[in-house]
Amino acid sequence: MDIILLGPPGAGKGTQAKRLEQNRGMVQMSTGDMLREAVANGTPTGLKAKAVMEAGELVSDAIVSALIGERLDRGCAHGAIFDGFPRTKHQAEALEILLDERGRKLNHVIELVVDEEMLVERITGRFTCANCGAGYHDKFHRPKVDGTCDVCGHHEFKRRPDDNEQTVRTRMAEYRAKTAPILPIYEEKGLVRRVDGMASVDEVAAAIDAILDS
Ligand code: AP5
Ligand code: ZN
Repeated sequence: MDIILLGPPGAGKGTQAKRLEQNRGMVQMSTGDMLREAVANGTPTGLKAKAVMEAGELVSDAIVSALIGERLDRGCAHGAIFDGFPRTKHQAEALEILLDERGRKLNHVIELVVDEEMLVERITGRFTCANCGAGYHDKFHRPKVDGTCDVCGHHEFKRRPDDNEQTVRTRMAEYRAKTAPILPIYEEKGLVRRVDGMASVDEVAAAIDAILDS
């Protein structure tokens, strides 16, 4: 089963994708994670993407579509979760071709419906364990009282350079201008399912499970 998780920055796409990966053996295909890895490794793609990401703008359609094609070719027998892709009409067309060429098809487009103002707090407060990547938040989920990661015991954490308020607002404007307009394409195909992304992580997860099991 192949699905898209669609929603603005901070809607919970990554949180839910990781859960589906653990519980169902599906593969999270996050273009944001792939690009951050390319930046960290200083690859040619990373060098092109770094400043664009730090400004909160969109990296070129060709680069991200190629990343998804490569990831699909590494295999995902139990299904793919597209997280942060597609983000433009052109990327939606590219995805259709990529799936078609591999004999795959989209089963659901799950839109996480959220209140954007609340998301600014979600995003500007988040950080991750520098060792295992576990997610934390200044208000909602602190590390252990001794300042260590409750998953792996590590004591260093990192924040994304694009998680400051100004960049978050640019990312949201990009979402409204370029990504939200792809929803009607999927609505016409009857693929869109809506979930309340402001509910708790467990409630959102249960709603997504109900869609996948329907
Ligand atoms: P990307 O990495 O895709 O970032 P994003 O879309 O801005 O999404 P986020 O990762 O910020 O949010 P999320 O929805 O995954 O939320 P999360 O689960 O972390 O993209 C980054 C950049 O890369 C882009 O700006 C662009 O430059 C480039 N890029 C990437 N893909 C591209 C593409 N296809 N084309 C062009 N450029 C591309 O949750 C957020 C926080 O909220 C966490 O702290 C979490 O713990 C908490 N939380 C989650 N769910 C809940 C809940 N239900 N209740 C309370 N808290 C919750
Ligand atoms: Zn950790």
